[in-house]
Amino acid sequence: MDLRNATVLVTGATRGVGAALTRRLLAEGAHVIALARDADRLAEAARDAAGRLTPWPLDLGRREDVDAAVATLLSRHPELSVVINNAGVQVASDFVRGEAAARLGDLRAEMTINLEAVVALCAGLLPHLASRPRAAIVNVTSGLALAPKRSAPVYCATKAGVRAFTRALRYQCEDAAPHVHVAEAVLPLVDTDMTRGRGAGKLSPDAAAFGLLEGLKAGRGEIYVGKAAALPPLLRLAPGLGYRLLRDD
Ligand SMILES: NC(=O)c1ccc[n+]([C@@H]2O[C@H](COP(=O)([O-])OP(=O)(O)OC[C@H]3O[C@@H](n4cnc5c(N)ncnc54)[C@H](OP(=O)(O)O)[C@@H]3O)[C@@H](O)[C@H]2O)c1
Repeated sequence: MDLRNATVLVTGATRGVGAALTRRLLAEGAHVIALARDADRLAEAARDAAGRLTPWPLDLGRREDVDAAVATLLSRHPELSVVINNAGVQVASDFVRGEAAARLGDLRAEMTINLEAVVALCAGLLPHLASRPRAAIVNVTSGLALAPKRSAPVYCATKAGVRAFTRALRYQCEDAAPHVHVAEAVLPLVDTDMTRGRGAGKLSPDAAAFGLLEGLKAGRGEIYVGKAAALPPLLRLAPGLGYRLLRDD
């Protein structure tokens, strides 16, 4: 997929992997519609991008706002051809000691942002993408979609949900719209706000963005970035070890 002059929607574009994706896409000559909540950061990014970044302040946790944004997005940007569902949050929760019950609101928001918003954006945008000569959707997941960790069960469930959703969406496009490429980007531990203060040997956000975009350009359906590439063979050959390694990640 050639990203030069493509119009690309990036969710979670203000920080971490999404900000790095945005920088790389701009450098490759794409126009970026940058979506996140922080309007000031988005405006700052737009100022630096010489007219090639459209800020799109939106809270993906607010269902009605997401639904309304889809229609506005398409009327203002009919040339949109690539969607990267990158925004995500991670909530640690202990279900045994009652912490999860106390934080149910946060866990529901996590499900809305990580899974429901991805479904809503794909539902609203895919018919339009199918009308374009070439198009792509990339949904960002994690090694934790394949092997969960104990401290964030809902996060892992949302990522596993996005993984299954993306594969089923790919089947639909293979049959009815083969010019729409549907990919899952499986990321390893990346050095961002989400992982601040934990983990070692983290990938930089820029390297994660590079790996994702290279996989997209190569037309891969499952884009394993960095160390995440070791997971499928590990889980096939030594599943117990694979699950143990990520259990306390
Ligand atoms: N970091 C890792 O180790 C790692 C590993 C595997 C997978 N991933 C996945 O990679 C993706 C990016 O993660 P990251 O590490 O770059 O996270 P991050 O640094 O915490 O950034 C998250 C981004 O999502 C946006 N966001 C959060 N809540 C939002 C909401 N309600 N509405 C709209 N935007 C929202 C944030 O912008 P605002 O605050 O401005 O809204 C920010 O731009 C996520 O899907 C994550 O699950 C990360």
